[in-house]
Amino acid sequence: MKKIILIKISCITAALFLIAFSNCNGPHHIIKPTVMIDSSRGLKDYYNNYFTIGVAVSPRALKTDEATLILQQFAGMTPENAMKMGPIHPKENEYFWRDADSIAGFAKRNNLKLRGHTLCWHNQTPAWLFKDATGNQVTKEVLLQRLKDHITTVVKRYKGTVYAWDVVNEAISDKKDEYLRNSLWLKIAGEDYIAKTFQYAHEADPGALLFYNDYNEISPVKREKIFRLVKSLKDAGVPIHGVGLQAHWAVNEPTRSQLDSTLQRFVELGLKIHVTELDISVYPKEHDSRERRPEDAVTAFTPAKEQGQLEVYKMCFELFRKYRRHISAVTFWNISDRYSWLDNFPVSNRKDYPLLFDKDLKPKKAFWEVVKF
Ligand code: GLA
Repeated sequence: MKKIILIKISCITAALFLIAFSNCNGPHHIIKPTVMIDSSRGLKDYYNNYFTIGVAVSPRALKTDEATLILQQFAGMTPENAMKMGPIHPKENEYFWRDADSIAGFAKRNNLKLRGHTLCWHNQTPAWLFKDATGNQVTKEVLLQRLKDHITTVVKRYKGTVYAWDVVNEAISDKKDEYLRNSLWLKIAGEDYIAKTFQYAHEADPGALLFYNDYNEISPVKREKIFRLVKSLKDAGVPIHGVGLQAHWAVNEPTRSQLDSTLQRFVELGLKIHVTELDISVYPKEHDSRERRPEDAVTAFTPAKEQGQLEVYKMCFELFRKYRRHISAVTFWNISDRYSWLDNFPVSNRKDYPLLFDKDLKPKKAFWEVVKF
């Protein structure tokens, strides 16, 4: 009797095993493990052994239901705007700490890894920065001293909380035949400003990881310029630990081979790679702003858009996993489709759906593709 019961139990177990691990629709009934998806786990749990999954946030989001989603899904955060020079240092002798402090406090209380963003950028700079009291452009010496004071104050304040900084953002030109962006930083201080920015950051917090961060990294022309800059900094002994790939992508780019060769190229730097601002627009990428057209009025998240987007997300994460030894963080540029900067770019007022959670904070189909591996 005991024997019969035991045999029965073994048969039931074997049957359950076969149901769980077989794919009877496959050719010749090949037994293939089914990926088990556990909906109580967040992105950060699925990717625990791969890289830190982060998210860009505003201080406002931390006071809404999005805060719960952040804690469920993410292991890292980046302030979307709060640590940029304009918002955090509006006047020469005045800092505005409230927003950045509230994000840093949230990260600290909840054990999230915080990336600082960003110390030197041509955009969102405060009005006083490049001018003296009489309204004339400052000299190189004055500008570099201001930069040093800024970096020393901000980096020291968040020492121990911010583990990695986007030190210089977008210094490379988008023009085919131009190497560095012709920004006021370059015009006033010369190419030197880039290495100096890294040095000042390193002096303020020798323990922080320092990154050069840029977009359009998948374009072969821009990619080589970013490579050249980062390599020259590394070869000159400048304290730089990695390259940040913004990854503002779309349904039509990058292709698999484009992304593979991009990641392969940056691996050759021998530095860390962080994907810093990932989002995938449901509209084909247009590289220049333009006027709104009648067809832009069609803005619903259609099944076709959903399918196109999930294929790109799936492919990107397949490649991120392939390069897991080199990629140590992947950060999304915002939490959910409730709000994204892409809603206003390149065509104003066109709703985009670039993230893995919908406006009700529910995981989209693309989410399930990203965690299925
Ligand atoms: C760049 C910057 C980010 C952000 C986006 C647009 O990628 O690095 O801080 O401003 O543009 O939102």
